[in-house]
Formats: sequence, C-alpha cells, structure tokens
Amino acid sequence: MESRKNFSSKIGIVLASAGSAVGLGNVWRFPTEVGNNGGAAFIIIYLLCILIIGVPVMMSEFLIGRHTHANTITAYAKLAPGKWWRIEGVSGVAVAMLILSYYIVISGWTLYYLIQSLSGQLQESRDYKALYDGFVTHPWLPVLAGAAFMCMTHLIIARGVQSGVERFSKVMMPLLLLIIGILVVCSLGMPGSAEGLRFLLQPDFTKLTGRVILSAIGQAFFSLSLAMGCLCTYASYFGPDTKLPKTAMSVSLIDTFVAVLSGFIIFPAVFSVEGVGVDAGPGLVFITLPNVFNMAFAAIPFLGYVFSGLFYLLLLLAALTSAMSLHESVTAYVLERFGIPRKRAAALVSVCCMTLGVACSLSFGVWKHLTVFGLNIFELFDFVAAKIILPLGGIIICLFTGWYLDRKLVHNELTNHGTVPFRLFRVYLFIIRYVAPLAIAAVFVHELIA
Ligand code: PHE
Repeated sequence: MESRKNFSSKIGIVLASAGSAVGLGNVWRFPTEVGNNGGAAFIIIYLLCILIIGVPVMMSEFLIGRHTHANTITAYAKLAPGKWWRIEGVSGVAVAMLILSYYIVISGWTLYYLIQSLSGQLQESRDYKALYDGFVTHPWLPVLAGAAFMCMTHLIIARGVQSGVERFSKVMMPLLLLIIGILVVCSLGMPGSAEGLRFLLQPDFTKLTGRVILSAIGQAFFSLSLAMGCLCTYASYFGPDTKLPKTAMSVSLIDTFVAVLSGFIIFPAVFSVEGVGVDAGPGLVFITLPNVFNMAFAAIPFLGYVFSGLFYLLLLLAALTSAMSLHESVTAYVLERFGIPRKRAAALVSVCCMTLGVACSLSFGVWKHLTVFGLNIFELFDFVAAKIILPLGGIIICLFTGWYLDRKLVHNELTNHGTVPFRLFRVYLFIIRYVAPLAIAAVFVHELIA
C-alpha cells in the first residue's frame, strides 16, 4: 500500500476543501433556493445557519479526520473500536458513492452545455426547453458526457492528493473566483440589475416560515459538503500545525462568498428579461439561463457568447473540484482497506460509480418509467442520500464528537495540543451537543413529512 502524503501547504488545504464545498450547490442550488424562499430573508437565515451550525460541524469532521489520519470508515473504527459509531464512517463512504453517481450526470450536462456554448450552437438555438428535453432523454449523449466528466475526475484522483487534488485546486479555485468576478460585473451592467439587487438585499421578513428556515439548514449542509466523509477524508491529509477552527472558517467563508456572488450573477440577469420567474426551479441553469443570456445580450451577441461560455466553464470547474472530493473519499477507503495501489483503487471506484451513473443518466430518458415509490433512479439516489443519510449522518457526527469522544482529545485537536488558543471551545461544545443535533433533527423530520 502507498504511504499517505499530506497536503504540502496551508493554502492547498484551504483551496482543496473549499473546492469540495464550492460546487453545483452554490452556483445552481443556492440561487434556486433563494428564488423559492423569498430572497434576502432566506440569505440572512442561511448565513446564520452556516455560522452557528455549519462551521462547528465542519470542525468536528476535520478533527476526526486529522486525529486518525485514515479514511472515514477506519477513522470511526479507530476512535470507537467495536462500537456502532463506525456506521457513520460506512454511511459517509456509501453516500459519497451515491452522490458521485448522480453528480456526474448533472456535471456531464454542464460539460455538454459548455461545448454547445463554445461552438455557438447554444446561441443559435431558440427553443431551450426542446434542446434540454432532447438532450437529457437522448439514449447515449448524456451518458457519454457523464463518462467524459468521470474520466477527468479519475485522472486527477489517480495522481494522488498532493500532485492531483492539491495542484489542481490551486489552479482551478483562483480561476473560478476570477470568472465569478467577471460575471458579476457583466451581470450588474444589465438593465434589470437594480431590481435583482433589491430582491437579494432587501429582506422581507413576512416571508419567513419554518419551511424557509429548514431549507436554509439543508442548503448549508449540502453546500459545505458536510456528513459525506469528504472533509473528514481531506482532513486526514492535514499536517499537525493546521489550525482546524481557522480552516473551517476560511472554507465556509469562501463557500458562502461564492454562493452569494452566484446570486449576484443570476438575479440581475433573470430580472433583466421579462416573463422569466425567479423561482424557475432546477431548469434554471439549463433552460432559463441560456434564454436569459440570449435576450439580455440581444444587441451584442458576442457578449452573450462570452458570458454563457464563462458561466458553464465556472459551473464545470466547481463541479469538478467537488466530484474530486467525493471520489477521494471512496478511493481512500478502497486503497487502504484492500491495500491496492491508488491507480487501481481509483479505477475501481470510477467504474462502479460510472455504472451507477449510467442508470441515473438513463432515468431521464429510456428508463424514465423505472420507478420506486414514484421516484426514478436519479431522484431515488438524491432522496436517499440528501434527505435520509445526510441529515442522520450530521446528527451522528455531532453526538459522536460532543458526547462520545474524550473532551480532552477534542480540545487538543482544535488547539493543536494547546499551542493555539480557541476561546470559543465551550460555545463549540454547546452547539455540537445540543443546538446542531436538534436543528438537524428538525430538518430531517420536516423533509420526510414534506
Ligand atoms: N458541496 C457541494 C456543492 O455545493 C456538493 C458536495 C456534496 C460536494 C458532497 C462534495 C460532497 O455542490
């Protein structure tokens, strides 16, 4: 078995973890949730959720990974030998595999739309709904796109953590931030930007309901990549001098920054075109936006071409860095459990996830009628992963670090054995013991009965 190589720099650690967090969830899911839940009021609640629940839970995952320097399953087994807590490790790896299988489907669509956009086809087409329907129901094109995306992820993971994940994150994350910056400036120049900004910045608290608050907690978990073994696995490659609370704070800040800026890109653009709703749902990125790009830049089509090309490139990079972390979570387990070389372990994971991915992809077309409880395969994977395993995993992580682990061990990890101060330790403990598990339990019950 290969020896474990840690990340080589602090910036590499922050960028790789932020790469995991920043994904389709920020650029696509966050604006959709903001649109569905009334704009600014949702954003305020979301920010509170990140700060009060997201950051402490992320710190817990970090400390479990860094303390054990092992894949997620072994990490829990090491900390609680012979106890049922190890189920969290197993569910983390299993859910990472499930999510990767359907994440590559949407990522493949993004790749296809990027190619369509760069080749000018997207500008020529007028009926975006027909284009979307024709593509996702096609018998092999989306499968091919998903496979191409999987190959990209595979090639990076097969190179290892330092020369794969870290090196690519250091290039992709700054590029991603640059593209976001350019797009925000373009978007603010659009005619509807004032109205878009008002929607984003002026809270209307009458819109706040229990459902909105619960959606905000759910979005915070998804967006920060919590409870899926990803950050725990990355943390197993952190060095002894990495400051866990500070790193969790930086990663959450970057993630939130990207999510809010995506709102600044999408809403001014959406408000610039009449007849397009802010709550356009999952079709927002693939049906509404191309339409918006086309109409908003009708006078200068070249700008529309650049804008849409950059947007899909942004989405692809964000998806790639997240898929890398999902892949690594499973690959680290396979290579350490079976003692096989990294390349072989990565290949095994890629083939398994791609096989499941084919089923997810076909569930939009030829296998549309294959349903369980009324859900097609894609929806079933998403439901089981995001609505069942994820919240339960979140609760287990909180209870594990808050109640089971030795308080001294937790304190030592968070303060690097007393060498860096962490004044909020008691607050952290209170959140992880009571606030976070109760809040997540509320989401869970709500999501199940909703
Ligand atoms: N956090 C990612 C996003 O915002 C999604 C993700 C979930 C990535 C789980 C890795 C693991 O899209």
